[in-house]
Amino acid sequence: MSAIEQLAETDDKKQQLTDNYKTLMEVSWNFDYESSVAKVMDLYRRAKQNQWDSDQLDWDVSIDPSNPIMRRENTQYFDMPFFRKFSAQQQEAFTAHSTAQVLSQFLHGEQGAVLTASTITHGVGDIPAKYYAASQTMDEARHVEVYDRYVKKIAIHYPVVAWLKKLIDTALQTENVHKVMIGMNMIVEGLALGAFNNMYRQTEEPLLKSLTFNVMRDESRHVSFGHAFLGPRVAAMHQDDREDLAQFAFDAVSIIVEGQREVDPGFIQVLIASGIDPEDFFRGMKEAEAAGFTQELPPGQVHSLKDLMIPSLVRAGLITPRTRELFIGAGIPVNDDLTILEAMEDAKSDQSILNEAGASY
Ligand SMILES: [Fe+2]
Ligand SMILES: [Fe+2]
Repeated sequence: MSAIEQLAETDDKKQQLTDNYKTLMEVSWNFDYESSVAKVMDLYRRAKQNQWDSDQLDWDVSIDPSNPIMRRENTQYFDMPFFRKFSAQQQEAFTAHSTAQVLSQFLHGEQGAVLTASTITHGVGDIPAKYYAASQTMDEARHVEVYDRYVKKIAIHYPVVAWLKKLIDTALQTENVHKVMIGMNMIVEGLALGAFNNMYRQTEEPLLKSLTFNVMRDESRHVSFGHAFLGPRVAAMHQDDREDLAQFAFDAVSIIVEGQREVDPGFIQVLIASGIDPEDFFRGMKEAEAAGFTQELPPGQVHSLKDLMIPSLVRAGLITPRTRELFIGAGIPVNDDLTILEAMEDAKSDQSILNEAGASY
């Protein structure tokens, strides 16, 4: 094969790994440099102060059976009788692959966050919000970098889950910067903050623990930004505009809920790679459910939808009486309790549990 043919073949392969489309996002210049939201400047200040360099983490740590990413005892399946019937080797392979599958979703989701944060930088009119979104773009680039390095280190890579891609594409393809913010800073990042918290608590692997802690601290600011910037705007909006955003929020949450009702092909790959027959697995899960095993989360773990996403939409006025009925009709309880959301987000640096616990969390 000639050098030119080789290059063409490489380009073809690379093309298969990309997805390009045009969006309708407007670009907003603003020559009024005054801040309209003091809290956004405060968040931007903390974003600057809390920058970190991934090179300072200990990437030389070895991850092998003596130091696994996650012990099988730490997984939600360990207590279920069907799971314990699998051999130790199958259980360990399943734990390694299912964890790797989640880490791949963190990686792909973070790439989506680079795209949304840079879109917000373009489209938002308020200058301090542009500063903040630019700092978030840098945070997200660092998050892609650390998860890419980690996934390469463990050498198990899974494709993006279809509903996660659809959710991020839906946010990116709207014509309205406020919808991008709802899709990312309230919904995807609520999902992510919960998932990072749970990973942080389940893993004992020091590199993943330290990088997850750092990522979580950034994400807790990103979730705050959605509220600090959008909350007052939604409150001042015409009812029709508020309903339009509320409908978008409902549709975006529905993508997650409906997506999670289907079996992800990546999860089937996890089972096959672990030497577990998918039929055996799903039969076992049904039996465990019938025997009263619920997939309840252990103490300290949070439910992203119930504890973070829905409360953040309620608080910002993005669940109206009309869409509340839609949520209830779709079987999605509307949780108004802000306790976990307010404890986890970085609304004020000295009150954030993540900063407070910096050394010992
Ligand atoms: Fe991120
Ligand atoms: Fe983020």
